[in-house]
Amino acid sequence: MNEQETPNTEPSRREFVIAAGTAAASTSVLGLAVLDAPAAEVQGGAAVRAVGPGGVQVAFTVNGQKVQVTVEPRVTLLDALRNYLDVTGCKRVCDRGTCGACTVMIDGKVIYACTMLAVEAQGKQIRTAESLIANEQLDRVPAAFVNADAQQCGFCTPGFVVAMKAVFEGNANPTPAQVEKGLQGNICRCGTYEQMRDAIYALCNQKRGK
Ligand code: FES
Ligand code: FES
Repeated sequence: MNEQETPNTEPSRREFVIAAGTAAASTSVLGLAVLDAPAAEVQGGAAVRAVGPGGVQVAFTVNGQKVQVTVEPRVTLLDALRNYLDVTGCKRVCDRGTCGACTVMIDGKVIYACTMLAVEAQGKQIRTAESLIANEQLDRVPAAFVNADAQQCGFCTPGFVVAMKAVFEGNANPTPAQVEKGLQGNICRCGTYEQMRDAIYALCNQKRGK
């Protein structure tokens, strides 16, 4: 075949982005819970409900408060929380799903907010580290971190306490090993793991009434 007769079998850039986005939405991240793919999906390669590229209105609940925000579809949940809603407890460190500093709970499951688009959070219940203080009283999980001096720079701490809170909400009486397993998606660059272990043991012992 000469050049003019060659059929164009290359996917367009748009088709590639749609396929890659659909695959990414269903991919697990480091043992953290995977949310369902959004409702708008490729149906046998046919119709796709397009949003954007301009602003899209998204509504969800953050720490018990209903909020609405208009963001471009490319904006991550982390950026929507921090930059549009001033919810800064979740931290941006790696911005690529490896450190856990941006950990939040969505409908009770922990996820990396940097790996989820804000539009995917439509209608969800989101909890950040800010939910672990009320009336100037710390929840017992961050309180255990304070008592054990389990932070240095503190950048990882909001992610750790949210992940740890999720463990205790899912299991009323976990073992220290079970709590540590729930923290596998989080890292501390300052290396405060020994102090975190002290906090974990204190919390587990509280549960057992020791
Ligand atoms: S900032 Fe999201 S995992 Fe590191
Ligand atoms: S306290 Fe600095 S990264 Fe954990």
